[in-house]
Amino acid sequence: MKKITKAVFPVAGMGTRFLPATKASPKEMLPIVDKPLIQYAVEEAVAAGITDMIFITGRTKRSIEDHFDKAYELETELEARGKKELIEIVRKTVPKGVNCIYTRQSEALGLGHAVLCASHIVSDEAFAVILADDLLDNKDGTPVLKQMVDVYNYHRCSVLGTMNVPRPETRSYGIVSTENESGKVQRMTGIVEKPKPEDAPTTQAVVGRYILTPRIFDHIRALKPGAGGEYQLTDAIASLLKEEAVLAYQFDGVRYDCGSKLGYLKATIEFGLRHPETGADFAAYLGSRFGAQDKPAKGEKK
Ligand code: G1P
Repeated sequence: MKKITKAVFPVAGMGTRFLPATKASPKEMLPIVDKPLIQYAVEEAVAAGITDMIFITGRTKRSIEDHFDKAYELETELEARGKKELIEIVRKTVPKGVNCIYTRQSEALGLGHAVLCASHIVSDEAFAVILADDLLDNKDGTPVLKQMVDVYNYHRCSVLGTMNVPRPETRSYGIVSTENESGKVQRMTGIVEKPKPEDAPTTQAVVGRYILTPRIFDHIRALKPGAGGEYQLTDAIASLLKEEAVLAYQFDGVRYDCGSKLGYLKATIEFGLRHPETGADFAAYLGSRFGAQDKPAKGEKK
């Protein structure tokens, strides 16, 4: 049985919600504690058995290539200072057996177009798409992409990672309709990009994880540009599901929308509390800052 070995990371977006931080550096390089978002995404792919990481990059994204490259000068310097643990951290950024492949999307023509840029590398295999600003965390359980690869291996068709969102938020997501109302794995009957809350068929939203069959490329090529001249992946999936089964999978785990400031801050708190170096002190700090016992009662001076 052919395994999924390739993941596509569209990283050419402008990251306007994080300006000025993203003026000259990619949003995917923003760190949660000490690791950039893109590294969490690559680690999730590795945990799912993926070996070929395909980055769809653009201008101002060079630091992503540098991050997943050897850092000779840094390693030599750390070696001279005897910093063994740090050398290890630097080296394991790219786990053994992983290939990084870069291709450029020179115009921002949407997620569908970004995925299409990988077609000549993916060729005729099913593959994963990971949006790194959706940080998916399943603490001590199976990482989300691995859960989805398991679903794919069983059903052998496209699988989208989904979760329920509050109705007012449907305008930020691809929203799916399914045959059944309940169940973790559901066959999709439709998908629409960012419907208004009053028009949304359901509140089941796609977050940034997809496993797609290569047939999707034909459906992207056949698209007419949607809003803003963009080619939406969602529209290509809507067309694909008329021809092949596409599944919505409600994953186990928590999603942090690290493309938004609030989601990013939440992730920072959760991962900061869990980090072996900062966890205990950070918890103590938060306790002293917000804990009930230290909080002055109304009108009381501390
Ligand atoms: C993209 C997709 C959307 C999906 C979302 C998940 O939108 O177009 O269908 O639900 O990612 O994060 P974006 O957030 O890039 O606007």
